Amino acid sequence: MHNDRRIANLALIGFMGAGKSSVGRLVAELLDFEYLDTDEMIQTDTGRTITDIFKTDGEPAFRTLETKIVAGLASRVKTVIATGGGLPTNPKNLASLKTHALVFCLWASPEKIWERVKNQSHRPLLQGPEPQAKIRELLAAREPFYKQADVLLNTDLRSLREVAQQVVHHFRLEAAR
Ligand code: S3P
Repeated sequence: MHNDRRIANLALIGFMGAGKSSVGRLVAELLDFEYLDTDEMIQTDTGRTITDIFKTDGEPAFRTLETKIVAGLASRVKTVIATGGGLPTNPKNLASLKTHALVFCLWASPEKIWERVKNQSHRPLLQGPEPQAKIRELLAAREPFYKQADVLLNTDLRSLREVAQQVVHHFRLEAAR
């Protein structure tokens, strides 16, 4: 890692259903950091749901909001930032996060993702007729972006608490360097 990076925060990236929000909350508790979620911030700022923004304004409008939110996080300290699954597909967003945060990717297989999201209905990208094919397609397209994280953790065979403990372990090692 570059010596000129400031590691004041911790960011979680990864596909929908990888556990970013749940793990993020646990990590924030363990480190005594604040917890923020870019999707929640967008919903609070606009007073609208993600579903409504996608439906009314379209995905590109949502992505513009995401990029604005990410840029505004640069002045934060001691914060765990959970991000929306598509956020790192804009290289600008990942570059911005890396100026102040250690970035972790929570990885999961398409099968595990399906198992975790199949009973949920708040993700517009998975509401089409073939959600399982959509998961495989999006995951394959996003893999090169996710792999640019500082640390990649496979969550398939681990509980949320185990993943959170691993994140904290890596973060402490890196912050002490
Ligand atoms: C998206 C993931 C969602 C949310 C939006 C788009 C994506 O966040 O940002 O529905 O493109 O993968 P989660 O990853 O928290 O579900």
